Amino acid sequence: MCGIVGYVGTRDAIPVLVEGLHRLEYRGYDSAGVAVVRRGKVVVTKAAGRVQELRDRLTKPTPSTIGIAHTRWATHGEPSDRNAHPHLDAEGRIAVVHNGIIENAKQLRARLGAAGVELVSETDTEAIAHLIAAELAAGAGSLEDAVRAALRQVEGTYGLVVLDRTRPDELVVARNGSPIVLGIGEGEMFVASDVAALVHHTQRVVFLDDGELATVRAGEYRTSTLEARRTSKEPTTVDMVADDYELGGHPDFMRKEMAEQPEAVERALRGRLDERFATAHLGGLGLDAMALRAVRRVKFLGCGSAYYAGQLGANLVEELARIPADAEPASEFRYRNPVVDPDTLYVAISQSGETLDTLAAVQELRRKGGRVIGAVNVVGSAVARECGSGVFLHAGPEVSVASTKAMTNMTVSFAMLALLLGRVRDLSAASGQRIVAGLRALPARIEEVLGDDAAIREVAKRHAGAKHMFFLGRVRGWPVAREGAQKLKEISYVHAEAYQSAELKHGPLALIDADMPSVVVVPDDELLSKNLGTIEQIKARGGPVIAVTNADLPEGLADDVIRVSRGEPELDPIVLTVALQLLAYHLAVELGRDVDKPRNLAKSVTVE
Ligand code: F6R
Repeated sequence: MCGIVGYVGTRDAIPVLVEGLHRLEYRGYDSAGVAVVRRGKVVVTKAAGRVQELRDRLTKPTPSTIGIAHTRWATHGEPSDRNAHPHLDAEGRIAVVHNGIIENAKQLRARLGAAGVELVSETDTEAIAHLIAAELAAGAGSLEDAVRAALRQVEGTYGLVVLDRTRPDELVVARNGSPIVLGIGEGEMFVASDVAALVHHTQRVVFLDDGELATVRAGEYRTSTLEARRTSKEPTTVDMVADDYELGGHPDFMRKEMAEQPEAVERALRGRLDERFATAHLGGLGLDAMALRAVRRVKFLGCGSAYYAGQLGANLVEELARIPADAEPASEFRYRNPVVDPDTLYVAISQSGETLDTLAAVQELRRKGGRVIGAVNVVGSAVARECGSGVFLHAGPEVSVASTKAMTNMTVSFAMLALLLGRVRDLSAASGQRIVAGLRALPARIEEVLGDDAAIREVAKRHAGAKHMFFLGRVRGWPVAREGAQKLKEISYVHAEAYQSAELKHGPLALIDADMPSVVVVPDDELLSKNLGTIEQIKARGGPVIAVTNADLPEGLADDVIRVSRGEPELDPIVLTVALQLLAYHLAVELGRDVDKPRNLAKSVTVE
């Protein structure tokens, strides 16, 4: 959620740090700050608002070869200069930037207060700076020892970087639940919470594990555990490149990432479809045919769009494999003491692989002996590692807060999983061939939807004055409608509510009038006549209708029609979802919203 950058080397640190923050801004963005050591002092600059506000404040050159920086998404305390990181101890010796949540912050703050320490912010992070300073004052042998001793008193999650003005050649970093990655340069080292901030400088990285610390100097790093046991970490090379985080001529990342979908889907399918046996190969699952046959039920767990992707996945599994399947928000699952069934295959879905609720659901499953696989985009992320097996989404880095290409690749991956589960059961080879061909056709079909951009923009313009919107769908169209409503509300701030079409008449129909447009998802399937009936019901009450469909609708039935191509009915929801992404996008742009950075949201939600 928040972003961390650190640097130690030979260059002027501030430009490197601020550049890194810009690249992380998509993860959280209500305030930002930077600390460097200059002539034996920690010099801190902070600003509420975007990174640009911080840049505007950094007018005086402060040359330094070491520093830490942070972009914040508020959890404890309002977004303000005072609450922005870095936070200092009372002497101004120690500076800390931190992602995550310190659960016993209240107790720590009270204890520090009772010992006469004056806390100047409302944050949970500030306590850490004071604790480290106290350990140093009490004679800790090194900054690393002091950090270790301080962290032993801390409960909660953290990714943090610590700077000590008396040691202007080293940073100490630690991780527990919030990612920290080291970037290895030539005679310089970088630290970040996300490789996005590093790939401009280096692709050689070291991912810290939970419970690990590192002391980082310009030419070296040393890792150890919280218990002071040395660990040995070999650098890995990441395949992300700087261009993945550049707009490349697109007006924003959401647009870029929507445009990348045909290519992203190609990548997800590559090497995984088998025409000969009409099935899919998902080697990362680690499940052979016997194990796949033993699966009696599939349950998808994720949050937000990942949950809706799971709902689409559950439909696909039921249709193709004829085994019961459902989806549940991971955030609910983790808290309801779930009954974990040994014959169920649980699928944890997460673009970032860092969503705390999803990670906690996985941990709950593992604790209870459930079989859980991941459907994750970020290789090496917490959910991917915790699951140990699964399917990588191969969508490429997703920067825009609103998920588009990752969500699409989730559904494509679930179609392959459903095909595989179906083919070890009773799905015929002919039906399998049909799905394989349907999957192969998806990139071109998505390209076609993207090609319809201008027409969808016109529809969006016509409805840009709406304050509320319904999104309606049934069965295959229902998760599509939910995701359409989600996209619209998060980036346009228009109130959008998704309903199962048949439920309309049980209450919400009362809301229909000329000012309440309904987006009706109408797949060309056996429920077509039912969906046409829904449109009639809305029209009879004077409600405007936008039909998103691949069927031939009676002329004039809907006020606006967004048409997509026909394909295999089981896979059509994937294509219909892309049309709704464009609708939400254009509505948001029409309303002048900052689509990549919707208010109050962050790209990865590492808090409860
Ligand atoms: C919506 C969106 C969010 C995420 C959700 C889960 O566009 O992006 O709803 O889908 O926060 O995030 P991940 O997939 O990273 O676990």
